[in-house]
Amino acid sequence: MYISNLKIINFRNYDSLKLDLSKNLNILIGENGQGKTNLLESIYVLGLTKSYRSFIDNNLIKKNKHNCKITGNLIENNISTKLEIKIENKKKILKIDSNIIKKNSDYISKMNIIIFYPEDLDLIKGAPSTRRRFLNLELSQLNSGYLDVLNNYNKILKIRNDYLKNQYIDNNYLEILNNYLIEKAIIIYKMRKKFVDKINLNLKNIFFDITGIENFNIKYRTSINLDNLDNLELKKKLQEKLNEMKEKEFKLKSTLIGPHRDDLEFYIDKSNLKNYGSQGQQRIAIISLKLSEIDIFKKYKGEYPILLLDDVFSELDENKKNNLLKYLKNEIQVIITTTDLNNIDKKIIKKSNIIEIKDGNIKLEGDV
Ligand SMILES: Nc1ncnc2c1ncn2[C@@H]1O[C@H](COP(=O)(O)OP(=O)(O)OP(=O)(O)O)[C@@H](O)[C@H]1O
Ligand SMILES: [Mg+2]
Repeated sequence: MYISNLKIINFRNYDSLKLDLSKNLNILIGENGQGKTNLLESIYVLGLTKSYRSFIDNNLIKKNKHNCKITGNLIENNISTKLEIKIENKKKILKIDSNIIKKNSDYISKMNIIIFYPEDLDLIKGAPSTRRRFLNLELSQLNSGYLDVLNNYNKILKIRNDYLKNQYIDNNYLEILNNYLIEKAIIIYKMRKKFVDKINLNLKNIFFDITGIENFNIKYRTSINLDNLDNLELKKKLQEKLNEMKEKEFKLKSTLIGPHRDDLEFYIDKSNLKNYGSQGQQRIAIISLKLSEIDIFKKYKGEYPILLLDDVFSELDENKKNNLLKYLKNEIQVIITTTDLNNIDKKIIKKSNIIEIKDGNIKLEGDV
């Protein structure tokens, strides 16, 4: 799938911009602070309804304006769909082909995006919640049912946590909550595990092709060992574990096991990249992770996702830059930002749609 054209109004440092995009490689080039990342972010927001950079939607609206709007044509199997998002003072209006969409999960499963951005390094260095957010985002795009299950799980989790704050706990009622919680937990565990297993099938080779280093893999860490357990065994194990934790949970007034405590770890052989990886290796690890998702999206959705790469080249030497570019197959729409085209293969540059950004505008050929 790809976005053929984009229109943004009052988004970040843009007033009003119309832009045609190539279905292959697009390179957004410009000096620091001109609006490259903002443009990439607008495509992300168009697809996923919120930004990866800011939890506050109002930050996306141009200073001193009241609302912003992003519109784009998404082409999938030669069929064009118009997506539109308008953000206005804590309100968001989503439209597909001019029809208002009420349910978020219906909207965000439409356009599939894989993004790499510099802050993604937090996936290795940051808190577990960053990695869970990554899992949730990717799985919500792959399967609109995932978000529904996750929302239900979180609702039950909140009820359970609130209940644990009571002075007197009715064990029968807690048991009922446990069973609801476990039912949703198992679905989430299974979907996450399947996703991580699939990533690991591609990850090692991609990382090796870019760096020449073998045995890169990720590990999915859960409160219980999931290996080869069927649903019934999982249910029993979770019930046992919750029973075991009971006293501690009463004391801490919080649910201590479940997918809300999951984590991912990144390894080269037996070394955890968090402690051992160089800055460049950590960067390539995350890029490899994102690239390994391309085929998964293709398999789940029947279409390649759109790849957004923000500042992917910094800190990479010439070899690794070009090794990386080899991965950006022709069938995929890639939108990449960079401050310069140094050390990038001329053949690749020639085939690309180069878009120069200056102060929230496209610099047309001939502009000074
Ligand atoms: N809500 C907003 N209203 C107006 N301007 C904004 C808003 N949010 C951000 N900006 C401006 O956008 C500019 C940053 O744009 P952006 O992050 O896209 O730069 P960039 O081209 O990616 O630069 P770099 O190469 O440094 O990453 C800054 O000048 C910032 O002040
Ligand atoms: Mg930027």
